[in-house]
Amino acid sequence: MTRFSVLAKSVTEVVVDALVVNLFQGEKRPGGATAAVDRALGGLLSQLIKEEKFKAELGQVLLVHTQGRIPAKRVLVVGLGKQEGFNLDAVRRAAGAAAKRAKSVETKRLATIVHGAGIGGLKPEECAQAVVEGTLLGCYKFIKYKTDAKGSPYLDEVAIVEKDERKIRNLRAGLKKGEIFAQSTIYARDLVNEPAAVLTPTALAKEAKKLVKEAGLSCKVFGINELKKMGMGAFLSVTQGTDQPPALIRLEYKPRQKARRKVGLVGKGITFDSGGLNLKPGDSMLTMKDDMSGAAAVLATMRALGKLRPKVEVVALLAASENMPGPKASKPGDVVRAYNKKTIEIANTDAEGRMVLADALAFLAKTDVDEVVDLATLTGACIVALGNFTSGVMGTDQDLIDRIIKAGSRAGERMWQLPLFDEYLELLKSDVADIKNVGGRAAGASQGGIFLKEFAGDKKWVHIDIAGPSFTDKEREDCSQGGTGVGVRTLLHYLLED
Ligand code: BES
Ligand code: MN
Ligand code: ZN
Repeated sequence: MTRFSVLAKSVTEVVVDALVVNLFQGEKRPGGATAAVDRALGGLLSQLIKEEKFKAELGQVLLVHTQGRIPAKRVLVVGLGKQEGFNLDAVRRAAGAAAKRAKSVETKRLATIVHGAGIGGLKPEECAQAVVEGTLLGCYKFIKYKTDAKGSPYLDEVAIVEKDERKIRNLRAGLKKGEIFAQSTIYARDLVNEPAAVLTPTALAKEAKKLVKEAGLSCKVFGINELKKMGMGAFLSVTQGTDQPPALIRLEYKPRQKARRKVGLVGKGITFDSGGLNLKPGDSMLTMKDDMSGAAAVLATMRALGKLRPKVEVVALLAASENMPGPKASKPGDVVRAYNKKTIEIANTDAEGRMVLADALAFLAKTDVDEVVDLATLTGACIVALGNFTSGVMGTDQDLIDRIIKAGSRAGERMWQLPLFDEYLELLKSDVADIKNVGGRAAGASQGGIFLKEFAGDKKWVHIDIAGPSFTDKEREDCSQGGTGVGVRTLLHYLLED
């Protein structure tokens, strides 16, 4: 992966394949470092900006050969979009667009200024972090199975140039954080993109155990016999139709100092969702290897905690299983008993996520965690409601909900609260059991939420439905097609908050 550094030099001195400067949309004349480069190039930048009608929309890139007039071989002017409403997500996307373009012209060594520092109160370190995140995430590609892919998708070296010596320490700290945030997001993307035939529940458990050694965590994997002993009938009902053994994976992170709070994280880890006997149509099944995105995000977060070592204790549960229609599969109408002793009528075997999460949440409800957050690709209805780039958030504690949404906004991950009115529970009334897992088409995302609430006990709890943003068909400045790693950076901002 890319080596990052902070370089105390002026932009007109750095010796690199490509140098990135920037421009706001509507800016008449370049300022700051961009102006310095423009002067050194005899006004070439401002001339091209005019002649090429370069509008500096967010992510637009103007590429200029310097022909020896400065040591940098090329200059890339990246558009920052409008100054009004400019934020860290724009920094991340601008950096991603520039890095992608630089990589496409075979750049190995790149230098960049920090976009956005000082604009609208943005701090240099958070901008440096966003630049590093955008640079790595923008270049990411899942090429493992591409026979002809040559070399790494990443730039070899990226230097952040800053002449002001007083800023350098902060920039370095931001850079370090950006690397960990981005590498963890990439780790989650890799897990999601891995085909379901490879990334089975057993493989996920193995991956978790591998992390433990690297990151100083502890880990315990509960297999089918332990799940039976614990009485996790809801979880087990999902695992019946497949030969792949399930795994409830528990990871723990403990800080060296006394923790200020203890957080429980839960990730939906359906490594493939065929729907079970309520089989999905082929088109809907095509991307269902991504149904473990919640678990991937939680695991990636734990990996990062080992490196960031914040003063918070975290226990994570990954509920991993396939959902398949094999001969022993659960049938619509079956009744099972969950860990908290409630009985559930399986009205639809395709509503399997809430079944595995129910037992994981009920398990955490009996521990001493202060707050619980679950991430799950839970409902297609959430995509219908909010679209492909927004997660649905619901929960039992408004303060916790607000903190999660705020963490999401710092991460550039859009979230929107959906209601959990008590009335929704009436949709889930069963004739034969305490509750059924589906109750028609109304308010699908909230139905999922209200079902889970029955198992969260009296904990402060938030559920994030990431069905929309977990996977993308369209490439973005900071993301390629496939798994997005959504949730990792939100969780990290939330866990690092004071
Ligand atoms: N994993 C799906 C939800 C999903 C759909 C995620 C599309 C990503 C993209 C979930 O297990 C599911 O099948 N949900 C059903 C619920 C229904 C049976 C109440 C759905 O959304 O159709
Ligand atoms: Mn399903
Ligand atoms: Zn599912």
